[in-house]
Amino acid sequence: MTETVTLYEVGPRDGLQNESQPIPTAQKIELVNRLNQTGLDRVEVSSFVSPKWVPQLADAADVFAGIERRDGIVYAALTPNIKGLERALESGANEVAIFASASEAFSQKNINCSIAESLARFEPMMEIAAAAGVPVRGYISCVTDCPYSGPVEPSAVGRLTEQLLSLGCYGVSLGDTLGSATPETTSACIQAALHVAPARLLAGHFHDTNGQALNNIDVCLDAGLRLFDASVGGLGGCPYAPGAKGNVATESVVRHLHARGFHTGIDEALLQSTAEFAKSVIAKRRADDAGKQLGA
Ligand code: HMG
Ligand code: MG
Repeated sequence: MTETVTLYEVGPRDGLQNESQPIPTAQKIELVNRLNQTGLDRVEVSSFVSPKWVPQLADAADVFAGIERRDGIVYAALTPNIKGLERALESGANEVAIFASASEAFSQKNINCSIAESLARFEPMMEIAAAAGVPVRGYISCVTDCPYSGPVEPSAVGRLTEQLLSLGCYGVSLGDTLGSATPETTSACIQAALHVAPARLLAGHFHDTNGQALNNIDVCLDAGLRLFDASVGGLGGCPYAPGAKGNVATESVVRHLHARGFHTGIDEALLQSTAEFAKSVIAKRRADDAGKQLGA
């Protein structure tokens, strides 16, 4: 029997959070509506973080209000605190994600608190989400390298994976925020996570700065992981991880998985045309900005 691998589309959130100028809300909505057609069944639509920190996604509620929703598709949102969670629930997100870091320095830069403080902040959020019947995903950033403090110990990833699962997350996404992981460092980090959790609870989230993402995904596949985050068109980056490029492109991962004989349920042609749409939206926005700067 063909084995299935699931893709978790993070383009509308991770892909768009790093653009220097916000993308028009209508185009974000169109991106999600196009993703709806491709066979993807998990889409991270936006994040309800502080608009002071990430103004690019300040329109999250409007995006949620504008998208067409299909039965069976998870429309998720990133939530850093109770305020964000409440906004996400009001907007009808049917899954939310909390996000922590395996590196203290990145935790401070990204969410303005220590790792321990972030876990304490998440605790009441888990209760609110459970009462609303909304599953919570956990993210760990900087699983191999931190942009501020360098290499990260695999044991830090194992510890945090265990903590997020015991808080009540249904699964944990392991984030190579910088896109600097290698197959060797990926393997060490995955083994540390597998020490505390079965592969079915783990996902790989690779940015592709050094072109190693597909090799790192292969390492994860060999270790039994069957869920990967990716961003259509390879868009993205984190505003608080300087130098990091976009996530590995969903269309590249899907092609790679199909070539390796895995089933994804995703239509390659529809995904490719959605990737082209996403890239054209970004290119137009950047060209408009460049034009404005020249005219200024
Ligand atoms: P803070 O400044 O310490 O928070 O930020 P605060 O509680 O002092 O609030 C400051 C202001 O923001 C207040 O407004 C709050 O009301 C408001 P004021 O009173 O000054 O007018 N505020 C909010 N407004 C709307 N929604 C909210 C919210 N929260 C506060 N949810 C905070 C702490 C966590 C809020 C901030 O640091 C933050 O929003 N950080 C998010 C940064 C971010 O989004 N980073 C990118 C996502 S993570 C990522 O990309 C990695 C990932 O892809 C995996 C990987 O690749 O590794 C997931
Ligand atoms: Mg990311």
